[in-house]
Amino acid sequence: MAVGDWWRYGVIYQIYPRSFADADGNGIGDLDGITEHLDHLAGHADSLGVDAIWLSPFYKSPMADYGYDVADYRDVDPMFGTLGQFDTLLAEAHRRGLKVIVDFVPNHTSDQHEWFIESRSSRDNPKRDWYVWADPKPDGSPPNNWRSSFAEVGSAWTMDETTGQYYLHSFMREQPDLNWWNPEVRDAMDDVLRFWLDRGVDGFRIDVAHRMAKDPELADNPLIEVDAELRGSDRREALLAASNGGEDLRDQDWPEVHEILRRFRRTISEYDDRMAVGEVYLLDMPKLVSYYGRGDELDLCHNFVFLHQPWKADAFRAVVEEFEGLLPEGTWPDYFLNNHDHSRVVTRYDDGGNGRARARVAAMMLLTLRGTPFLYQGEELGMRDGPVPPDRIVDVDGRDPERTPMHWDASPGAGFTTGEPWLPIDPEHERVNAAAQRGDATSMLSLYRRLLQLRRGSPALRQGAYASLTSAPDGVFAYLRTTSDEQLLVALNMTSDPVRFAATPQGAGGQLELSTDPGRHIGQVPLAALDLGPDEGVIVRLR
Ligand code: NOJ
Repeated sequence: MAVGDWWRYGVIYQIYPRSFADADGNGIGDLDGITEHLDHLAGHADSLGVDAIWLSPFYKSPMADYGYDVADYRDVDPMFGTLGQFDTLLAEAHRRGLKVIVDFVPNHTSDQHEWFIESRSSRDNPKRDWYVWADPKPDGSPPNNWRSSFAEVGSAWTMDETTGQYYLHSFMREQPDLNWWNPEVRDAMDDVLRFWLDRGVDGFRIDVAHRMAKDPELADNPLIEVDAELRGSDRREALLAASNGGEDLRDQDWPEVHEILRRFRRTISEYDDRMAVGEVYLLDMPKLVSYYGRGDELDLCHNFVFLHQPWKADAFRAVVEEFEGLLPEGTWPDYFLNNHDHSRVVTRYDDGGNGRARARVAAMMLLTLRGTPFLYQGEELGMRDGPVPPDRIVDVDGRDPERTPMHWDASPGAGFTTGEPWLPIDPEHERVNAAAQRGDATSMLSLYRRLLQLRRGSPALRQGAYASLTSAPDGVFAYLRTTSDEQLLVALNMTSDPVRFAATPQGAGGQLELSTDPGRHIGQVPLAALDLGPDEGVIVRLR
């Protein structure tokens, strides 16, 4: 395999450690739990067949934001295990041919990080400037109008009484933003990267990669009005959409961020065949692709525009075509539809009970586009957003439902835990679980396995060119994936009505390789009159 092949042509699976598998029975997932379940992912005849895992944070943390508030970048939180247990996980993953990407959270630390404890201790502490401190306005109010990404938090500034200044936090008060204008911060974070690279990790997912650099003058953001009732990702989406085309935001996406990313890239390139994927939460694609630099910044940028599309063929087609058109020479696309911050596809796209049928079509789309697919734990089982009663809500931003524990089997703890789970287990796990789906050819898990298998065996799906099929009727997203000796047609019916259309003008037939409808007969199909059932996707081999 050539350098970079694994993350370009492979499939990456996100693990949210708290909710994946709990080996010690305290109700919270841990590293040993992950190690014990690696066969689900790779190296076994029954495995899903992914190529890499991305681990959400498992570092020492007070868990205000469930690990995205890091108190020590170089240690594992005891809740999750030890560095030794991490090394075992890494070795066991590598033994199965799985690469391991870890989350890197450079924009902010926990307020319990020793750097911040020092920084807040006095105005002349040597670490004072490692964070963003500013004087109040003359009336005592915060230095500017910047808001936390979390609606519940309000202002992005908190007054620290000891020293009489405000500190910046783009997220919770417990997550003070580092000051990336300070060269010592850059050096310290390079050391963090090297610490994990030396341990053998294969790459990083960079948390809020677009937020590290901000206006050093701390000028106000342009005023953006959105519905005050909106929460969570709906609010973020509305804010970002409203800011598009307007004046630039001051608290993120500042030009200097590209220099920081080039520096990360240089550090990571000191090691063989490692990569970085960035969470670039910008809903403007020209801005998004600028984070690839000239192939010298991020290797991959998570495309949130794709995730935010309504269930409409022309909407997805437009995003794919725009992304394909904008990507700088030599760079590579990637797609995802689920993660730990967003409502799951089964719930998000449900319209009167067809959520799972649509999720099957979504899986086919994700795994046949040109670009690296990212899956999120449980999506391969068709997990929905778990019901979380008001007295069990723990997240500040409404993200508990997409984080409920993984469904391994039908037992009361879902095979996730023998203890009291930190978030309620969806009662649906009695039907929707890995054990039940493994031997069932009609299950969501079987569909994902089959799609991954097809992709692995198909140069056209992994590496081939992408072209939209212009003959597709309204409501059908169809495209060709082509190499010199292979061509596959993917046709996704995103409506709830059957359709028949002429995929190619010639009367020739093609070989139906896979349908999202497990009942459909596999064999020759006429291309001049291709039939798709309601909410059905197909892959047809043309050569
Ligand atoms: C993005 C992460 O995905 C999210 O879970 C977290 O709350 C914020 N960044 C802050 O780190």
